[in-house]
Amino acid sequence: MARSFDRFLPDAFRRDGNRDFADQLVPTQLVPGALIYDVGGGKHPNVGEWRRLQLGLSIVGLDIDAEELAAAPAGAYERTICADISSYRGSADADLAICQAVLEHVSNTDAAMRALASIIKPGGTVLLFLPSRTAVYAALNRILPHVWKRWLLYRIYPRSQQVQGFPAYYDRCTPSQILNLARKHGLEVESARYFFYSDYFSFCFPLHVAWRMWQLLFRLLRGNQAAETFSLVLHKAAGKPIETRNT
Ligand SMILES: C[S@@+](CC[C@H](N)C(=O)[O-])C[C@H]1O[C@@H](n2cnc3c(N)ncnc32)[C@H](O)[C@@H]1O
Repeated sequence: MARSFDRFLPDAFRRDGNRDFADQLVPTQLVPGALIYDVGGGKHPNVGEWRRLQLGLSIVGLDIDAEELAAAPAGAYERTICADISSYRGSADADLAICQAVLEHVSNTDAAMRALASIIKPGGTVLLFLPSRTAVYAALNRILPHVWKRWLLYRIYPRSQQVQGFPAYYDRCTPSQILNLARKHGLEVESARYFFYSDYFSFCFPLHVAWRMWQLLFRLLRGNQAAETFSLVLHKAAGKPIETRNT
């Protein structure tokens, strides 16, 4: 019923940002022989083995959780680094840094953006995907105690145990705040994509409809700032310094 209802909504309300990032955006940025950091890739590396071998990519998995890294498919990462991205300092050696569904779990996104900028070389690219802190599910995520929301999520969507359940802070996780942090750390914005889709409320049709009504109104009032999720392509201009201000 939720899916049938959604057919009447504009396309932007039906496109899954997660899938768009992984299937459409990331592949366009893979260059043969590139050195790639998958930041927060954990047990789900962004680039599959077939593509890695085909393009001769070197992939470094950086994650705060050693168990997540160890659970990745064998050979997915050439090298792994167990570190908190917000206190990491890169050596500006990467062509590309991919960071999907991670920044919402970081308590200091300013420091994390600085680290991402330090990982890539001048002329390199950062690909970001994250949910916005203004999304209704993000607000619930912040308000509800962690144990409750894990229990609810796993009850309603048992398969989410594979990818969800990490503590989330949503520190400065709105499109405008992340864009400002990117610029602050010397990253220029090449493109941004905004999505108004998630399926957290589809288990209960009346809730789904109420949430969709709120979204339509919110988008009317705030435009792209009302997006549920967004992705960014960021470039470090050649010659930009690695170290930038931190607050
Ligand atoms: C929701 S998962 C996303 C995994 C993968 N990127 C994907 O899109 O399927 C979040 C990942 O970020 C990692 N993570 C959370 N906080 C982090 C931090 N401060 N520094 C580095 N990794 C972190 C978690 O361990 C986990 O592997």
